Amino acid sequence: MSFKTDLALSIRSIPDYPKPGIIFRDITTLLGDAVAFRQAVDELVKPYVGLGVDKIAGIEARGFILGGALAHQLSAGFVPIRKKGKLPHETVRMAYSLEYGTDEMEMHVDALKPGEKVILTDDLIATGGTAEGAVRLLRQLGAEIVSACFVIDLPDLGGRKKLEALGVEVRTLVE
Ligand code: PRP
Ligand code: ADE
Repeated sequence: MSFKTDLALSIRSIPDYPKPGIIFRDITTLLGDAVAFRQAVDELVKPYVGLGVDKIAGIEARGFILGGALAHQLSAGFVPIRKKGKLPHETVRMAYSLEYGTDEMEMHVDALKPGEKVILTDDLIATGGTAEGAVRLLRQLGAEIVSACFVIDLPDLGGRKKLEALGVEVRTLVE
């Protein structure tokens, strides 16, 4: 017999962080709960088993934690999408906006081969600005984006629809 935990209950909400008016959904509590972390990874991985995924692309910073686990489970490689100035080799760069600001992200130019099957992952999709920037970078390098997956969707902020309008399948676990 297997028991399922309610993942939503393992996510902590912090009001007015990082700015007044934002309710920050903090997954460190989920990650620190062995049962919830395993369940979240298992549920994210399930639809992708057997698809021949080449790479998981994880968005800094919390997408690295999930992405590493997904890559291991799917026997895929891992590609970091980082905030600007952090990667040592030649990069491609993209500006983006998110719920509480703007920034630029980068990938190594040789992180992917054209045509490789990639799954994009992060802890959360809100406005979708971050994920949209990542999709554009991945496509610039010739990736075939199989899907994008997130633990949390904040549907009122429209991120899922934004990615779907770009032709990207979106999977999430908790609203
Ligand atoms: C958070 C989250 C996503 C992004 C989602 O990251 O992990 O990457 O915001 O927001 P959006 O859908 O409105 O674009 P954050 O920029 O806070 O970076 P961090 O993980 O490095 O703290
Ligand atoms: N990224 C954008 N909006 C967020 C939120 N409300 N909680 C955590 N990460 C976020």
